[in-house]
Order: sequence, then structure tokens, then C-alpha cells
Amino acid sequence: MLFDELVKENIRDFYDRRREVELLKNGILECRRIILILGIRRIGKSSLIKVTLNHNKIPYIYIDVRSIYRQYNYISSYAIHYALESALNRLSKSSFWSKLLDYLKNIRGVSVMGVEVRFSESPQKITVIMPQLFNALNDWASDNKSKIALVFDEAQYLRYSKINFRSIIAYIYDNLPYITVVLSGSEVGLLHDFLRVNDPRSELYGRYMYEIVLKRFNREQSIDFLYKGFQEYGIEPPTDIIEEAASAFGGIVGWLVYFGRLSIDKGLSREVIIETFIKGSKLVKEELSKLYKRSPRYRYVLEAIAQGNTTWSSIKKYITARELKPIYDSALYEILLTLEKMGIIEKVLEKDEIKYKIVDPVLQYAVMH
Ligand SMILES: Nc1ncnc2c1ncn2[C@@H]1O[C@H](COP(=O)(O)OP(=O)(O)OP(=O)(O)O)[C@@H](O)[C@H]1O
Ligand SMILES: [Mg+2]
Repeated sequence: MLFDELVKENIRDFYDRRREVELLKNGILECRRIILILGIRRIGKSSLIKVTLNHNKIPYIYIDVRSIYRQYNYISSYAIHYALESALNRLSKSSFWSKLLDYLKNIRGVSVMGVEVRFSESPQKITVIMPQLFNALNDWASDNKSKIALVFDEAQYLRYSKINFRSIIAYIYDNLPYITVVLSGSEVGLLHDFLRVNDPRSELYGRYMYEIVLKRFNREQSIDFLYKGFQEYGIEPPTDIIEEAASAFGGIVGWLVYFGRLSIDKGLSREVIIETFIKGSKLVKEELSKLYKRSPRYRYVLEAIAQGNTTWSSIKKYITARELKPIYDSALYEILLTLEKMGIIEKVLEKDEIKYKIVDPVLQYAVMH
């Protein structure tokens, strides 16, 4: 069902994005070394990855780095140890598992118990296990004329790990051609904060990365998505409400799904659009409050933009009025850059002038209420 709120796993529930599915599939089958899935929050990055890999029966190891970070507030060896172990065991449902076990059982620190794999060394040893594990996966894929994807969803959080994942990825890039590393995240955050693609000191400097960018749905797609979603429940929705909803949620599929889901549960009406904003902004406010704790200036900048002060000078003026003293350009630059890296704001060029916009209309609502 299109309005299922979980990360989509099945292509039947996944609207459009056929081009991106093809690009990702071909990228892996053609042994591209690193594939980046870029896009703002709730745009469908995780769904694209899972749907593509499941649909094409490509074996994969999937690690949700953001959820580890949320659980522990940093990325410990312990967390990686267990995430990798359980991601590996998820392959046990596949037909090739017993063959793969033959490759895994030769690794020191990995024990095979029945049909399950356990990392028997202490979590601190995960850095010793990882290269051997990836070598074994690569050998298995090579011998079986298969490919395997190693997915780090929201990979920018890997920078909170003491383990140097850039060097592990560089090792895979250089030595293990049957493994494709798939990394998702917001463009600026992933490329610059974690991968540091422009930094000659980065282990990944100069490596080629194949980018797949998920764009927001345009108005027609949003409308079509909502019609199709309601039709799955036998509902013929009124055109005016659908058009209003399509405009309101800025082509962000996560909110269209939320609106659809809520309408199915409560009955479709114009009020549900408002309710989606109210409920959605509660979710968003949790994320915002963490940011505001770092500095109230994040709040001021977002408030400024939400109220229409979208140029550098007008944002600066707004903050100066709030703080009763001028803010240094370098400090404002840092704040704007961080917000951009998090995919919360974007720069757009309008009539030769750079303007800052809040990407997500629900987040904009949350800032103002
Ligand atoms: N093409 C699609 N068709 C139908 N539903 C979709 C599609 N893409 C995403 N969704 C839905 O939108 C919501 C957000 O999707 P998903 O979690 O994959 O996005 P994301 O970019 O990974 O978001 P986040 O930043 O929260 O991790 C989910 O409810 C998912 O089911
Ligand atoms: Mg996701």
C-alpha cells in the first residue's frame, strides 16, 4: 500500500522512482565502487535502497547508522559489532546462506552456530573482524558470480565513530570489486562532513562516487500519488483537497504518506492537512530541540527565514535584533552551513541573489508554532 508509513520494502508499495531503482540496480551490477543516495529527510532514501535490493534479489548488509547514533549518542564498537552481526544473520533467509557460511566459518572471531553466525571476539575486535568479513563476502560473491551491497544508511553519522570507516571503505573500493558500498544521507552532510571528498587528507579523496539524487515530487506526481493511494482503499478523493495537500507538503513523500494514512484512519477532509502539519511538526520539533540546545542561534536563523528574511543581510539583521548585538559573519556562516549540511535549509539563486529557504514546509510550520 502506498500509504504504509514504514520504510517501503516492496516495489508494489513504492510509487514511481523507477529511474532511480534502475540506476541503483545497474550501479551495483556493474560493480560501481561507491554509490551515494542523496536527499533531504523523508524523501525516500531508505525505501529506495531496500526496494531496489529486495526487488532485484541483490544480497545486502544493511546498517541504519542514525538509529545506532540515537540509541547510544555515539557510534561505539559495541554497536557496530551487533549491528553487523544481525545484518549478516538477516541473509540467513536467502537460498545461498549455507554456501556463504562455508566462507564465514574460516574467519577468526566468527563462529557458526547451526544456521546462525556469532562474532565471538569482544566488540573491540570488530575492526579486526571487518576486513576479513568483507574479504569473505567478496570471495563468496566472486565465486558465485554474484554482487553484494554494503549499505550504511545515514552514513554521515559514522563520523561519530572512533573506527575509521573512511579507510575501511577505501579498502573495499581498492580491493573488493564484488562489494558495492551504498551510502545515504543529505548531500552536504554526507559528502563534506563524513566523506570529505574535497579534502586531500581524506582516505577517500579522489575516489569516484556515483550519485543518485532523490528529488521532491513535482505537483503532478504529488497529486497522482495521492489519487493512487486513496484508490487502493476504494476512496475517490475530492480534487480540491488533493490539490491543496499536494501544494502544502512540497513534494515530500513522507508527509504525503502521513496525510494519506491519517485520512484513512480519520476520514478525508481539509482539516487533516492541518492535522498533518500539527502532528508532523511535533515529530520535527524533537529534532529541532536538540539543535536549539546546541545554540539558540539556530532558532533565530530558522525563525528569520520562516518569517521571510531569506537573504544573508536580512538574517543578520534579525539575529542582531534578537541578541541586541551584532553577530560576526563567521559565526553566521557556521550556523547557516550546519543547517545546510543537515538538509534543513538550502541556498537558491533568485535574480542574482542568494536566498536561504527552509526545505520542508512542516519544519517551517514547526519553527513558527
Ligand atoms: N516512492 C515512494 N512511494 C511510496 N511511499 C514512499 C516512497 N518513498 C518513500 N515513501 C514513504 O515515505 C516515508 C519516508 O520514506 P523513507 O523513510 O524511505 O525516507 P528517508 O529519506 O529515508 O527518510 P529519513 O530521512 O526519515 O530517513 C515512509 O513512510 C515511506 O514509506
Ligand atoms: Mg531513511
